Amino acid sequence: MKPDNLKTRIFLDSGNPEETREILELLGFLDGQTTNPSLIAKNPEAQKRLELGDKFSAEEVNDFYKDVIEKIETIIPEGSLSIEVYADKDTLVEDILTQARQMNTWSDNAYIKLPIIQSGLEAAEVLTKEGVRVNMTLCFSQQQAAAVYSATAGARADSVYLSPFVGRLDDKGINGMSLIKNIHNLYKNSDKHVSILSASIRSLDHLLASIAYGADIVTVPGKILRQWAEAGMPVPDESYKYSAELEDIEYEDLDMQSDWKNFNIQHNLTDAGLQKFADDWNSLVK
Ligand code: G3P
Repeated sequence: MKPDNLKTRIFLDSGNPEETREILELLGFLDGQTTNPSLIAKNPEAQKRLELGDKFSAEEVNDFYKDVIEKIETIIPEGSLSIEVYADKDTLVEDILTQARQMNTWSDNAYIKLPIIQSGLEAAEVLTKEGVRVNMTLCFSQQQAAAVYSATAGARADSVYLSPFVGRLDDKGINGMSLIKNIHNLYKNSDKHVSILSASIRSLDHLLASIAYGADIVTVPGKILRQWAEAGMPVPDESYKYSAELEDIEYEDLDMQSDWKNFNIQHNLTDAGLQKFADDWNSLVK
């Protein structure tokens, strides 16, 4: 059962419906699930096909992703489901829009994941006006968080997720949890159309700190949720301290009413992450 004092929503970060079933059983609740091209490439059925040298056609891989989403939906019919478009640095806005509108028909609870790059933000601006919910992914800076807020201004409460990738900042010696704190502070007087979804969770410490630092949602690999369950599903308060010795990111006071094009959305980790998602997806296709 969900602990009474837990305000943060808990999502599973996985492309495997079998894991959805297992984690739901283990925790007794699950608020949603996030997927991405790398996680779909790791799906055991997809892996089996690759081992047999039987790669997917472009159409088959799309159908495979849709099937995974439909299977997850039958297990958590009320759960939020994040589905990611294919994008690399050259993908056109029109192409992102076509994919997003299509994927949005796969589930009533869909949030379409778009990268925080120029074309992704342009697409987000259009899609949120159409009422499509989005999950803006590969966030590594407050400037990007402000741009997302501004590009999607006017959207309904909780209809936009912002996904800061804490583990990938930690990998570079930078405290990813300090970005969650800073964005939480930046958004403190917001109209709540954007929810903070703490992502790239690599440890129980990341999960607990995300809860303590006020993330609205945290998406967590099955392995870490098993550790949380084993520890009795603790819910820390604001006094919880993230223990890693890493360099904190300094807080920037930004005016989120400013046009999103005024923010610096470039980040090397976003570029690298985009490339990795594209490579993992392409590894599945003939
Ligand atoms: O939720 C985003 C996540 O899947 C990325 O995690 O561990 O590859 O940085 P990671």
